[in-house]
Amino acid sequence: CDIHGGFVTFDVSRLVDLENGLIDRRIFSDAEIYDAEMDRIFRRTWLALGHESEIAETNDFFTTWMGADPVIVSRTAQGIKVMLNMCRHRGGTVCRVDRGNAKLFLCPYHGWSYNPDGTLKVVPGLEADYRHGIDPTQWGLLEAPRVATYKGLIFASWNPEVEPLEEFLGDARFYLDCLLDRVEGGTELVGGMRRWIIPTNWKHAAENFVGDSYHAAATHASIMRVPGLEGAGGRVKDVVGYQAALDNGHGVGMWMASEDNARGGYGHLAGIDDYLKSIQDQLVAKLGELRATRLTPVHATIFPNFSIEFPFASLHIWHPRGPLKTEVRDLTIVDKAMPAEMKDMLRRHCMLRQGPAGTWEQDDMDNWSQTTYSSLSPTARGLMANYQMGMGHEHTRDDIPGRIDNKSSDINQRNMYARWAELMAMDPPPPQVPAACRSHSGEISR
Ligand code: FES
Ligand code: FE
Repeated sequence: CDIHGGFVTFDVSRLVDLENGLIDRRIFSDAEIYDAEMDRIFRRTWLALGHESEIAETNDFFTTWMGADPVIVSRTAQGIKVMLNMCRHRGGTVCRVDRGNAKLFLCPYHGWSYNPDGTLKVVPGLEADYRHGIDPTQWGLLEAPRVATYKGLIFASWNPEVEPLEEFLGDARFYLDCLLDRVEGGTELVGGMRRWIIPTNWKHAAENFVGDSYHAAATHASIMRVPGLEGAGGRVKDVVGYQAALDNGHGVGMWMASEDNARGGYGHLAGIDDYLKSIQDQLVAKLGELRATRLTPVHATIFPNFSIEFPFASLHIWHPRGPLKTEVRDLTIVDKAMPAEMKDMLRRHCMLRQGPAGTWEQDDMDNWSQTTYSSLSPTARGLMANYQMGMGHEHTRDDIPGRIDNKSSDINQRNMYARWAELMAMDPPPPQVPAACRSHSGEISR
């Protein structure tokens, strides 16, 4: 099936040749393909936006992105609303800060003002200048038609026909619950939000977290050698690593301890091993024996652009800002029930490791920039990228969901790009056009 960009037609099956484990490097740099992704993927599927604790009080809000669309996420008396951060008058950016609490969003250009739910409240000159020639009820902020939460995480979609969120997450919930639902009270954000720009295509970050354990030994070798910085992290002894390719392009990597071996190995994180022991009964009650004692998810991507570093826990949302640029939204979440000093220790741990100057993050970002820019080289981009590791070896297990392979395998990356290709081959969902923006015939004005 072809993608029709502005001037160029792409054959998706040639861009992503999964039978042979080959991917055309142009998908990491081409502007036409990027535009098609924004339309066909980011306007169709669910997108992770943040955590409910970021907007705990009525009228709390934060600003973020849904694909290339800037949005405001706001807690109103009627629940969470997600709205395009674009004034309906001439397109001014209505809200220009990262977060806050506001009774009104005032567009600084001509002063149209919106309620926290996006309805238009004030139009300067409505009587004297417009002479009531417009109907303010038709000119509220454009609202995402679908908003839902899963155990504290906020998602939204521009697609009114999108499947229920739980269905979209599917088997990934089995692994997500190890983080989101391990103790009473659930999770909360600690330490605010960090954001920064990486000169990379968003897919290089998403594919790294979906299943690239292979890179760790080379990329992060120096960190592993620093005494006291990294513990065994859920793998005390007799462990095997797996990747699990999940429905809808999601994927997770994990450690599995042998049956008689409880988890542990977080000696470098003061008090965490004891904390895990103290919540052991709750873990078993909520997650069952396997996930409470033997299984430790390590990394995951929820397709398309939401990644998690388990189990004490960085959330990264990779916002595409052009084919060669990604804006990261980085959050740290902890169990609400943890002691305050442990939360603070984990805040520092996650920043040290996965923040913009983080030990692990810096190594990764440099690699992703290199792989993105190689796609611009006229000679290099003619050479397909290799995603062949583990082909023909995938299998299933009775105790964990997904299609499984060894810890070092490209199974999850192939699964992610299979979903990418599936959505890229579909027509984009129709644009949402409020009635007031249609012509008299009802056709969309262009
Ligand atoms: Fe917002 Fe004019 S663009 S009030
Ligand atoms: Fe890494």
